[in-house]
Parts: sequence; structure tokens; C-alpha cells
Amino acid sequence: MTWDPLEELTLDELRRRTSMKWRAHPADVLPLWVAEMDVNLAPTVAGALRRAIDDGDTGYPCGTALAEAVGDFACRRWDYNVDVGHTAIVPDVMQGVVEVLRLLTERGDAVVVNPPVYAPFYAFVSHDGRRVIEAPLGPEGRIDPDALAAAFARAGAPGGKVAYLLCNPHNPTGSVHTAAELRAVAELARRFDVRVVSDEIHAPVVLPGSRFVPYLSVAGAENAFALMSASKAWNLSGLKAALAIAGPEAAADLRRMPEEVSHGPSHLGVLAHAEAFRSGDEWLDALLRGLDDKRRLLGDLVADQLPGVKYQPPQGTYLAWLDCRQLGFTEEAADGIAAVADLAGPARWFLDHARVALSSGHVFGTGGAGHVRVNFATSRAILVEAFTRMGRALRASR
Ligand SMILES: Cc1ncc(COP(=O)(O)O)c(C=O)c1O
Repeated sequence: MTWDPLEELTLDELRRRTSMKWRAHPADVLPLWVAEMDVNLAPTVAGALRRAIDDGDTGYPCGTALAEAVGDFACRRWDYNVDVGHTAIVPDVMQGVVEVLRLLTERGDAVVVNPPVYAPFYAFVSHDGRRVIEAPLGPEGRIDPDALAAAFARAGAPGGKVAYLLCNPHNPTGSVHTAAELRAVAELARRFDVRVVSDEIHAPVVLPGSRFVPYLSVAGAENAFALMSASKAWNLSGLKAALAIAGPEAAADLRRMPEEVSHGPSHLGVLAHAEAFRSGDEWLDALLRGLDDKRRLLGDLVADQLPGVKYQPPQGTYLAWLDCRQLGFTEEAADGIAAVADLAGPARWFLDHARVALSSGHVFGTGGAGHVRVNFATSRAILVEAFTRMGRALRASR
């Protein structure tokens, strides 16, 4: 049996954690929602943090170590070269998205997204005074070029600048966009004069059978931006840092980013993220094997416990998007921008009746209602217990 970072911690040990996943709900709830993983830190990352603490090295971040580490990783894993001179450290991915959108658009301008999509895309974009325009994914959970073209046309119609916030790989469907799909995106973006910002936070978490393509590596994407971070793949969300990368034609835009933005990431975050990209391959490969097993296990658990629910194994991320519409829990969601922890429909029902916390589909925008998102980055025992509880509650209700 090979080592699996997802099998190291017991439920009692996990319950001692004080982060959002483990504290947002009472202790009888099994949390399979927010994208934190139930793993220990990769040993080399923990070592780098311990050294910094022991040395009192807790000042402000400085230098290009994160960009160089991301660059080496991108070269090793994706055969892609990052130009370190065209990068900037940013506080985290979402703050980086906001800062890049400020370079490319003005208040009142439009930002196109592909629902169902990571819920904070709506909140961050609209809190910064930009309009969100939806280009829904196609029925297979993939980018629909016709919907994208229509949204680009609609977004640009009143005049003003348009940006497109791409999620690559896509949260919550786990779709890993192919080179051909991304080339089509780039062609449309050029045709409609739309600037692309590619959120690539899940890029290292691509499971066997698929290959991640950096958006900036495709022809036509030279004027785009990408955001990268180790926070999903190595579970470092509490250690704030991310990297903004400009394509060659966007380098001048990046130079307009205020210097103060680079004071936002924490120095410990930059150290940890850089160490993960530099020396975390072996740990990551073990994680990916574990996630591949869990992705299969999830198929069995859905078939056994939740008949009628549809599950398409994700190609990347540790998030599974379950279509629960046949269960008939049609509770209406509140209007307006939803917070990640808002609950309606099946997620509300499973929390109330099975004491399992899932992400509620409605927060992911158009097409999300009636779905739930399951974070399967946990142990086999916890997944089996959660789905057994849900199955039992469902059978008792029928
Ligand atoms: C697509 C996507 N972007 C951004 C984030 C958040 O990243 P950060 O905490 O670095 O802002 C997440 C977290 O799950 C995510 O899934």
C-alpha cells in the first residue's frame, strides 16, 4: 500500500483544528465543504516555516523566490516558462484577481464568468464596482464558445472595457480545459477585445488522465494574466500569498500595479508557497494518487447511497459536483450574491438530516441550484461515514 497524505489524520485530530472547515458547524457535523484538505503539511514546507520561526524571520516579504519556484515547477510539470520579470507577489489569489481587474477595467465595466463557478468570483468582482456577466458552461460542464461569444458581445455593448475571469481548472466541475478549448477562448478574446484573467489556483491538482495547460502558454493569450498559488495543492490557505503573472503584452499593465500590493502577502506565506513549489513534488504526487483513489471511491458511494444523483468524476481539483435535482429538494435560495457558506436545497437538507456539510450549488451562480459540491480531500473513513449518513437519511425520508 502506498503512502497517502489523506490517510494520516483521525477525525479526533481534525476536530482540534480551528480553521473555517472545522469550526463553522457544530462538532457532530462532518465537514466536506470549503476547500481545505485534511492533511498534514508537506514536511519540507513545515521545515521551512519552522526555520523561519526559529530564526525570528517574520518581517515583510521581499524578492522573487516565489516567482522562481513557480517558474521551475511550471517548467518541470507543464513545460512552460514563466518570465520572472513579468510577475508580482499579491496577497492571495482573489485579491490578486481584484488588483489585476483594476489594471484592466474601470468601475462599471463588465467581467465575464462561467457559471456554475467559484462563488466569490461574484462577490469580489461586484464589491469592486464591476458588473458580472454570465456565460454558462455547456451541459458537460465545459466552456461553451457560443455562450462565451454572446456574453463578450453583451458585456461590451454599452461601451467600456471587458475582462473575462477564467477558472482553469474549473471549480466546481473539476474540468481541466484542453489546449484546443483555451485556444478557442484566446481567439474569441482577441476578436471581442476582451482581457483574460486566468485563475490557476487548482493547476497543480490535475488527476491522472488529464494535463493542465497554462492559459498563458496558448497562442493568442500574450495579453492575458494568470494567478498561481500553492494554497489549494499544499493546503496553505492560512498562509497568504499568490503570484500574478503577466503575458508579454500585459507586462506594461502589470507595471502599473501599485508597489504596496506586494506588501500584502505574508512573508511566512511567501516562504511556504515558494518551498511547496520548489520541493513539494513528491508529496504532491502522493496526494494526487490519493485523490485519484477517492475520486473512484466517490463513484461507488454515490451509486450505493444516493441513487438518482449524478456524478461525473472530476479531471482536476478535489471537488466533486453532484447533480441532486432528481432528489426533488427544490427549496428556493435567497436573492442576491450568496456567501460561500449559504445553504439551500439539497445542501441544506443534508446538513439538517444527515449532519454532513456540503457546499450549496446555488452559490455558484446560474445552473448551480439543485447541485452540491463535495470536497473529497479527506480520509476514506470520513467519506464512507458521510455518504452512509446521507444515504440513511435519504432512505428514511422516502
Ligand atoms: C478557483 C478559486 N480561486 C480562488 C480561491 C481562493 O484563493 P485565495 O485564498 O488565494 O484567495 C479558491 C479557493 O478555493 C478557488 O477555488
